[in-house]
Amino acid sequence: MRVSLYMAMSANGIIARENYDEDFLSHRNWEVFCKLAENIGCFIIGRKTYEVVKKWKDYNFDSVKAKKIVVSKNMNFELDSGYTPAKSPKDAISKASAMGFKKVLLTGGSGINSAFMKDGLVDEILLNIEPVVLGKGIRLFAEDNFDSRLKLINTRKLPKDIIQLHYKVKKSK
Ligand SMILES: NC(=O)c1ccc[n+]([C@@H]2O[C@H](COP(=O)([O-])OP(=O)(O)OC[C@H]3O[C@@H](n4cnc5c(N)ncnc54)[C@H](OP(=O)(O)O)[C@@H]3O)[C@@H](O)[C@H]2O)c1
Repeated sequence: MRVSLYMAMSANGIIARENYDEDFLSHRNWEVFCKLAENIGCFIIGRKTYEVVKKWKDYNFDSVKAKKIVVSKNMNFELDSGYTPAKSPKDAISKASAMGFKKVLLTGGSGINSAFMKDGLVDEILLNIEPVVLGKGIRLFAEDNFDSRLKLINTRKLPKDIIQLHYKVKKSK
């Protein structure tokens, strides 16, 4: 299974404010996410991201035409219909594999990104970098024990001064 991580962030690596708002990120990032998710056909999110996005008025995972997997240690956690629960990153990959996918999109937040990195499960990283810096907020990766080298595959300038970086994750062995 190939795992592609896609995230939008400030120039200093913030993906959301401390109160979970993403008001500093532009609509363009959501469009990129939807296109990627619908092309790949399946995306994985952490339980907190599922809960946060559910409350948004203007954006909604429900309308994205892709399979949706939510990772939580709590298997009693209730999900809306159309969402598949997984108890760990590896379980999420098994579920996507059982659905027939060979590639899956991982798309945050911070905690689940780190859990996948720690398990060595991420193959490529796509970052949309917004022209903004924030002194506080939730970072791209929550603190954890991993250390991964990347190879730069491509850079692209998108509208609204967004820079997209595309990296391959070098596997140590
Ligand atoms: N800018 C962007 O592109 C972007 C994209 C996505 C999300 N976000 C933002 O990110 C924020 C949420 O990030 P977050 O770090 O607080 O939460 P998160 O990563 O979305 O979810 C964390 C939860 O995932 C589950 N989890 C993590 N590691 C696990 C493991 N190894 N095994 C099983 N379950 C595991 C746990 O759920 P349980 O506690 O239920 O066990 C954990 O509490 C939100 O504000 C959201 O808006 C931004």
